[in-house]
Amino acid sequence: MSELELRNFAPGDEAGLLDLKCAVFPGLVRANEAARFRWEFDANPAREPPFPRAFVLERGTRIVGSFVFLPYRVQVAEDVVFGASGVDLCIEPAARGGGHVHEMVRRWLAPAFAPFPFAVALNDASRHLFTKHGAELLGGSGESIAWGHFLAHPHASPERPALKSEVVDELPADTDLLWETVRRGQRLLLVRDRAYLEWRWRAFPFGGVTIVRALGERGETRGLAMVQDDRKAQDLYVAELLHAAGDDAAQRGLLRRAIALARGRRGVEAESGRTRNVLWCSTRDARQLPVLKEEAFVLVPAPVPTFCARVHHVSKSGSVRVAEWATAIGDGDQLFNCNEPPPAAIPQPPTAAINDPRPDGR
Ligand SMILES: CC(C)(COP(=O)(O)OP(=O)(O)OC[C@H]1O[C@@H](n2cnc3c(N)ncnc32)[C@H](O)[C@@H]1OP(=O)(O)O)[C@@H](O)C(=O)NCCC(=O)NCCS
Repeated sequence: MSELELRNFAPGDEAGLLDLKCAVFPGLVRANEAARFRWEFDANPAREPPFPRAFVLERGTRIVGSFVFLPYRVQVAEDVVFGASGVDLCIEPAARGGGHVHEMVRRWLAPAFAPFPFAVALNDASRHLFTKHGAELLGGSGESIAWGHFLAHPHASPERPALKSEVVDELPADTDLLWETVRRGQRLLLVRDRAYLEWRWRAFPFGGVTIVRALGERGETRGLAMVQDDRKAQDLYVAELLHAAGDDAAQRGLLRRAIALARGRRGVEAESGRTRNVLWCSTRDARQLPVLKEEAFVLVPAPVPTFCARVHHVSKSGSVRVAEWATAIGDGDQLFNCNEPPPAAIPQPPTAAINDPRPDGR
């Protein structure tokens, strides 16, 4: 057998990468993977990152291993830098055990690669490898961040101020003004400007996203939420919950509309025997917790989504800790497999919940 060579991604590698991924991770549909790959890279507003699309492990001309890096813009204190989300780490069985995975993970987490390498929805293998090479874990059994609103239980909201909300098809024209108010309240956050939200929620190839807008007195946008419907899991997610820190009236307006949407979906589906169970929300921002609790979201014990990262970038105002990362369910590739067209003849696996957002183990 010829030697294995580790190199950076080059144009023309896509087909080999996707073949490998579909061979290693069971249950994937090649056409879905191709559609997602095009969206992930070609439509991504994080342009020209300083790192390659992937590391590729090759035997002869065949790709037998890979680690893919999706670019994001990340606010670290007052700066915006590139984040490298590590996804689809895989090596085909015959090429395993040679230490190459350690080299791929080590290079990704090295300071020169990206200012903010991160990964989400970890499995046992990636959790072990990423933390071994210096990434810090967030979430997981030590810190529950999964809040569930159980749709079968009736709930009367307490009398408290809530902004008016509406469902919109397009992102509002003042979305970037909202982002400015959101970013002021956070030190470490994936950039949620209009370009990002357009890509992540409107250009997402498999749909199922409803945009909710909270309106201020002058008709301005005071909040945006993205409600992602996951037909496979029969759950829904408040995948983004964007408002200025401490704007409880905006948060409440968004959550109430999201709950109403979820309940409405549940009613329609009940007739077909498939009912929605839970509306999930996940936040590490303690300022959002009082309103979540008032709107009958309860903390669901571990296991919960896990995130890991390293912050290499040091801003003028000093270093920022990974623990300051204001994560959301929509971050990284956590919900990327929502609503993919199923394979023609293969039945879909049964439910998956927030604690198992990637039933294929990715
Ligand atoms: C994960 C993967 C890339 C590792 O490559 P590999 O060549 O098999 O790696 P090795 O067998 O040398 O194992 C590397 C280390 O990971 C650990 N590891 C591998 N699989 C593991 C698992 N399922 N659970 C926990 N640890 C695991 C090994 O114990 C080893 O630990 P150490 O060397 O630090 O003591 C490969 O097994 C694979 O493709 N798996 C399926 C896809 C996958 O799960 N990818 C990760 C999530 S995206």
